[in-house]
This record gives sequence, structure tokens and C-alpha cells, in this order.
Amino acid sequence: MPEAIDALGAVEAKMRAFVAELNNDEIEKLYHALPKGKRLRAKLVLKIAGAGDEAVKLAAVIEMIHAASLLHDDVIDDATTRRGVASLNATEGSKQAIMMGDILYSKGFEKLTDFDRTIAATVAGAVTQLSVGELMDVRLGEAFNPDVEAYMQMIYQKTAALIEATAASAAALAGKERAIYARYGRNLGLAFQIVDDILDITQSAEKLGKPAMHDLKEGKTTLPYIYLYEALDEEGKARLVALHGRELTPETRDWIRLVMEETGALRRAYLYARELGEEAVALMTSRGEEALASIVSAMIEREF
Ligand code: FPP
Ligand code: MG
Repeated sequence: MPEAIDALGAVEAKMRAFVAELNNDEIEKLYHALPKGKRLRAKLVLKIAGAGDEAVKLAAVIEMIHAASLLHDDVIDDATTRRGVASLNATEGSKQAIMMGDILYSKGFEKLTDFDRTIAATVAGAVTQLSVGELMDVRLGEAFNPDVEAYMQMIYQKTAALIEATAASAAALAGKERAIYARYGRNLGLAFQIVDDILDITQSAEKLGKPAMHDLKEGKTTLPYIYLYEALDEEGKARLVALHGRELTPETRDWIRLVMEETGALRRAYLYARELGEEAVALMTSRGEEALASIVSAMIEREF
């Protein structure tokens, strides 16, 4: 079996072992029903810090925290699907999803305290950031947001901060330059969220594993929509703003796709994600970290 898959298997086993420590059949059953996702954060830890016991444990802690944040996010967003299957809040209810999130989060934190202070503080600080970022996401969703800076700040906190902390803490574990890996993680995280926001517009529900073109209905004015707003004339701007928070008809979906292409808004968002990604790639190739550079390229070119 290839080394990377083996190491990821060790991370899965570690998470199962942490959950088993709770000694509760219901929690184990709920945990095993959760879809696994891409495990991007675990892959980063393993590529930066190798597949030793400490790295596997750090990867498991971070993936548990990430899984917890998605359980809470699906409650906040009233989501019914996650990673292609019905979300836990949809099948078991919001109370179960919130508590399962709390359990994974606190178990992860308990294990985080086994690490040295720098690592524990880096990861713990990022969780504060992602919680503040989620609150900002909710606030920004209350009206159409045309402000690029507010969007970038929000996605930094909501998504990039934990990926930045993942790379920085793994670097600390491996005795590598923390600041360089933190920068790599920050750029990867920002590009990841922008690509996610682009795919919401361009891909089908089947590919995404969640409803397609759903962000605007959820109130999320993502980067392509902000660029689109900037490019449209007054009439177009008014039409776009009026769609905020509404269920889109097939006609409005077609209109959005058309003007996204015509104005170059989608392309502009993609080029920005690529620019962020290229800086991350350059940081890694100059250090001979080809595997870490490839993670960025694959993430930018992904289709779901
Ligand atoms: C997904 O965003 C959400 C996040 C990346 C972060 C969510 C963070 C919290 C709910 C804070 C709570 C933290 C803990 C540790 C319990 P999205 O809704 O844009 O993406 P999606 O389409 O995948 O849902
Ligand atoms: Mg969500």
C-alpha cells in the first residue's frame, strides 16, 4: 500500500481510538456514520511532519476539530447534505449534531494539551479565529456584501486560519521554519475557499455532494458575486442584489452563469485563487517540498 494512504489510515485509526475512549455506543455509531471528506488537513500534517506517532496524533486532533466545525456549520447553515450524504443535523436533528460537534471538539482539545505549548497555542488560537470567522460569515450574510476586504477577512478566519495553523504546527513538530509553512497554509486556505465558492456556481449538485448554486440563497456573497457586482451596470447590480437570500429560478441561474462568463467575474476570482496558490507552490518548490506544492495545484484544479 502506498505510504501516504497507510499514514492516512493511521490517522483514521487514531480518531477511532479517541472516540472509543468515550466508551459510548451511541457516539461511536454517530461518528462512524460521518463521511470522511478529503482529509486535506491530515495530509498536510503528514507531508510536513512525516508519519510518526506525534504527527499522526496531531493530524487526528486537527481533523476532529475540523469535523466538529462542519457539524456546527451545517446547523448554522440549515444544510441537509454534507460530503454527498445527508448531514447529521438532517438525519438526527440539530441537538445531536451540536452535541456531537462539542464531543469531537473537546476530545480533540483534550488530546491537544499533550503537545508542547507552541503547537497547542497555534491550533487553539486558530479555533478561536474560525469561530469568529463563522460569526462574521453569518453577519455578512444578512445583506448583499459588495466589500472584497470583508469577504477576504471572513474567509481567512473561517477557513484559512486552521489550515495555516495546521501547516505551522506540523512545521513546529518537524523542526521546520514555521513562518514559511504558515504562509503556505494561509495561501492554500484562502485559495481553497475561493475555489470552493467558484465551484458552487460552476458545478452540479451531484459533483459537489451538496446543492449547487446555493451560496447566494444562503446569503453568501462570495468573491465571484462581488466581482460580478463590480462589473455590472446599475440595472444589473439591482437585479443581482434582489436575488440575495432567494431561491433561484432556472432563468435566474442561467442569467447568473451568463453574466459571470460575460463580465469575466468568475475568471477574475479564479485568477486570484491561482495567484495565491502560485505563491504557496513557489514557497514549497524552493524547499524541495514537491508533495506540498502538488497539494496546492490539485486543490486549484479540483472539480468538487
Ligand atoms: C464551512 O463554511 C465552515 C467552516 C470552514 C468553519 C465553521 C466554524 C464554526 C461553526 C465554528 C465552530 C468551531 C468548532 C471547533 C466547534 P461554508 O458554510 O462556507 O462551507 P460549506 O459549503 O462546506 O458548508
Ligand atoms: Mg456551510
